[in-house]
Amino acid sequence: PRVKQDVQERIRYLKKERNALILAHNYQVDEVQDSADFVGDSFGLSRQAAAADKDVIVFCGVNFMAETAAILAPEKTVLLPEIMAGCPLADMITAEDLREAKIQYPEAAVVCYVNSTAEVKAESDICCTSSNAVKVVNSLPQEEVLFVPDGNLAHWVSLNSRKKIIPWKGFCPTHHKITLDDIDRVREARPGAPVAVHPECHPDLVAKADFVGSTGAILDYARKSAAPEMIIGTEMGILHRLELDNPGKKFYLLSSRLVCPNMKYTTLEKVLNSLEKMETVIRVPEEIRNKAKVALERMLAIG
Ligand code: 13P
Repeated sequence: PRVKQDVQERIRYLKKERNALILAHNYQVDEVQDSADFVGDSFGLSRQAAAADKDVIVFCGVNFMAETAAILAPEKTVLLPEIMAGCPLADMITAEDLREAKIQYPEAAVVCYVNSTAEVKAESDICCTSSNAVKVVNSLPQEEVLFVPDGNLAHWVSLNSRKKIIPWKGFCPTHHKITLDDIDRVREARPGAPVAVHPECHPDLVAKADFVGSTGAILDYARKSAAPEMIIGTEMGILHRLELDNPGKKFYLLSSRLVCPNMKYTTLEKVLNSLEKMETVIRVPEEIRNKAKVALERMLAIG
C-alpha cells in the first residue's frame, strides 16, 4: 500500500507539472479509476476530451478512445499509457470493408459505433455510443441505416427504431461469450434481483434482461433502483463504481468471464510511466482526423 500511495502521489504531482487531465473508462482497474479526474462511459469521456482545458490528456482505456480524444482535441497531447490496449470489436471492420458495404447500400446512412478505428469513423456519416445509439439512428433522415461494427448493438437498436438496420457482423468477445445458461443460473441463485446488461451482449441475453444500457446508464439505473441486489452483465471494472455509489447494495456479475483483457493492460504504474515519459502519444493523420471529427461532432450535437 505504501508503494501504491507513492505512485498515486507521484501521479498527482506530475499531473500538475504537465497540466494533464486523466480520463478513465468504467472498465479500468479500481486504482486507475481512483487516479482519474473523470471516470465514465464512452460518451461522457468523449465529451470530457472535447471540452478539456488542459495541455495533456492521459486516456486510461483502449486505443479507439484515445484516438477519439485526439480527433476531438487536436491541440492537446493525448497519451495512451499502454499501446497494446486495443479493441477486437473495433478491428472487425476496416475502412475498405465499409467502402464496399457503402457501394452495396448506396441509400443507407452510415452509423458507426465509437468502438471503431479513426479510418472507419472517417467513412461514416455519424458516430454513436451505446448511450445514444437509438437517438442517433432516429435522428437521421434516411430510412436505411448501415450500422457498424457491432451486430449485437445493431440488433438492439433495431428493436427500438422503425428504421431498417443493416448490421455489420462484429461483436465484443467479452460480452458475446455470456450465455443464456449464465443468466438462468444467476437468476436461480439470486431470485428477484434485476439483471442489467450492456447492449453488446447477445440478443438472446438482452431479451431476458430487466435493463439494457451503456455503462453510464447501468450506473444510473443502479442508483435509482430500490433493489438491494442486482446482477450485472458487463465488464467487471464497473463493479468499483457501483459499489462506491451504492453502499449497502450488492452487485453480482452475470459471469466471472466478464473481463476485458485490453482494459486490464493499464495499471497505475503505467499511468505514472506515461506521465513521466509522455508516452505513447496518439496521433491521427490530418485527412482522416478531419473527416472523423465531423462524424463525432454530429454525435456530440445530438447528445
Ligand atoms: P460504454 O461505456 O459507452 O457503455 O462502452 C462500453 C464499451 O464497450 C467500451 O469499450
